[in-house]
Amino acid sequence: MRYKRILLKLSGEALMGTRNYGIDPIRLSEYAKEIKKIVEKNIEVAIVIGGGNIFRGLAGASNGMDRVQGDYMGMLATVINGLALQSALEEAELQTRLLTSIEMKEIAEPFIKRRAVRHLEKGRVVIFGGGTGNPYFTTDTAAVLRAIEIGADIILKGTRVDGIYTSDPEKDDSATKFDSITFKEVMNKDLRIMDMTAFTLSEENKLPILVFDMNKKGNLLKVVSGKNVGTLVEG
Ligand code: GTP
Repeated sequence: MRYKRILLKLSGEALMGTRNYGIDPIRLSEYAKEIKKIVEKNIEVAIVIGGGNIFRGLAGASNGMDRVQGDYMGMLATVINGLALQSALEEAELQTRLLTSIEMKEIAEPFIKRRAVRHLEKGRVVIFGGGTGNPYFTTDTAAVLRAIEIGADIILKGTRVDGIYTSDPEKDDSATKFDSITFKEVMNKDLRIMDMTAFTLSEENKLPILVFDMNKKGNLLKVVSGKNVGTLVEG
């Protein structure tokens, strides 16, 4: 295996599957199966999940809602997704712990870095809910922050495209994919794979990011095995 401890970033929207709102149980259980394959290879897995399938703070703000209020609603949405994912992973007979950045002791453990690391060492899948716990930050930033804190080897950003392209492959037929790219090139070419806060935090801490298609069966295992899947951002 190429990596020992990874942080998997999943988008909330991906959980919708074919629906246009909420959580698709089929998609959820597919993800659980993919994750199980890498846990069985003794990879330590931490997960940050977005909340866009339920609520987006920014969208709320554009409709006149207070931005901070909207962001808190988004953070709660990530906890709902975290609970759903935890349930699906347990259904797949994995050990899991949900840790939240905003205390809600009745439903999850509070985030304590040392507890998170201990859970990982014991082979438990750790889900981080509640983003960074602060408004004005995205779940991508939460993913990078937690990855650095727990000493993850890499961020695996699971998306519905199979990597980073010269332009949006869903809009431009002539777009070509990069196998690997440097942080600087991503910046110079304005490729926007994450928001700037998340991206620079990753660059400053020399944490590589791998963008890959999470919806393709077997891809996650290929990624951690070091096969040439997706696009690696490093250096
Ligand atoms: P080890 O000490 O490494 O064995 O970890 P552990 O998580 O098995 O032990 P612990 O006794 O801390 O937790 C037992 C169970 O209680 C686990 O399912 C935890 O997720 C859960 N748990 C621990 N702290 C809290 C909390 O503050 N709130 C909630 N809701 N659950 C908690």
